[in-house]
Amino acid sequence: MSFGEMGDTMSEHVLIERDDALLTIRLNRPEKKNALTRAIYHAMADALNAAAHDESVRVVILAGGTDFTAGNDITDFAAAGDRPASEPGAAFTFLEAMVAFPKPVIAAVRGYAVGIGTTLLLHCDVVVASETARLQMPFTRLALVPEAGSSLLLPARVGVATANWWLLSSTPFSGAEAAQAGLATRAVPDNEVGPTALEMARVLAALPPGSVAQSKRLIRAPHAAALKQAMDAERVAFGERLRTAEAQAAFAGFLKKKG
Ligand code: COA
Repeated sequence: MSFGEMGDTMSEHVLIERDDALLTIRLNRPEKKNALTRAIYHAMADALNAAAHDESVRVVILAGGTDFTAGNDITDFAAAGDRPASEPGAAFTFLEAMVAFPKPVIAAVRGYAVGIGTTLLLHCDVVVASETARLQMPFTRLALVPEAGSSLLLPARVGVATANWWLLSSTPFSGAEAAQAGLATRAVPDNEVGPTALEMARVLAALPPGSVAQSKRLIRAPHAAALKQAMDAERVAFGERLRTAEAQAAFAGFLKKKG
C-alpha cells in the first residue's frame, strides 16, 4: 500500500510528515495526552507497513508533541470485556508492524510516555528522550501485566534489578534515568529532542540502506524467536487480565476521576 492509498485507515490523530528520506509518524491527540485508540494503532501500523515497502523512506521517526503518549486509551481497555478475547488487539497489530519493520526507527520522547508509550521504545533502534520526560509502565497499578515483549526485552536492556522495579512497582522515572539505564540512547534538554532526533535520523539516512537494514536484522535475529514467544505469552495473560474484576475496577477508577 502506498501513502496515497491509505485514506481509509488514516486517523486525524496521526500526522505523517515527509522530509526527504525521513518519514515522521506524529501522534496528534494532545487533548488526551496522545492516548492511543484502536484507530491510532491501525494508522501507525499502516504507515509503517507502507514505509517498509517505499524505497524512498530510509528512516522513520516516531514522535508526539509536548507529550509522547499516555499509553493505551483506558476507555478501550474498559470496553475489552465486551469483545471476544480471541479478537486480535489493534495494539498487537501495531507491535507486529514494529517488530517486522526493516529500517531504523527513532523515537523522540517528550513529556508523558506511559505504558506502551514506554514499552514500544524497546522496539525502536534509537531513543532520544527529554531529560524531563516522564516514563512509566503502570501495568500492576492497573492490575495488568507487561506487554510488547517488555517482560523479555526490558531486563535484557536495563538489567533485571531495574526492570523488576519499574515493571513490578509501576514507579515513574525520568528520561535522564532512562538514558542512564540504557533504555534511551540519549537524554537531552526538552527543546533539543526534535532537532537531535532529526540529526541522528539524517546520519542513518545517509548510510547505505541495504547495509543498515541487514545490520538491524542481525542485531535482532538472536532474540527473534524468544521475543515472539514472550509476546504470545504476554498477549494471552494481558487479554485475561483485562477482563478481571480488579482491572475493570482500576479502569473505572481512572475514568470516574476524570469524568
Ligand atoms: N486513556 C484515556 N484517556 C486518557 C489517558 C488514557 N491512557 N491518559 C490521559 N487521558 C485523558 C484524561 O482522561 C484527560 O481527559 P479529560 O480532559 O477529558 O478529563 C486528558 O487526557 C488529560 O489528562 P489528565 O489526566 O487530565 O492529565 P494529567 O497531566 O493530570 O495526567 C497522566 C497525565 C498521563 C499522568 C494521566 O493522564 C494518566 O495517568 N493517564 C493514564 C495513563 C495510563 O495508565 N495509561 C495506560 C498504561 S497501560
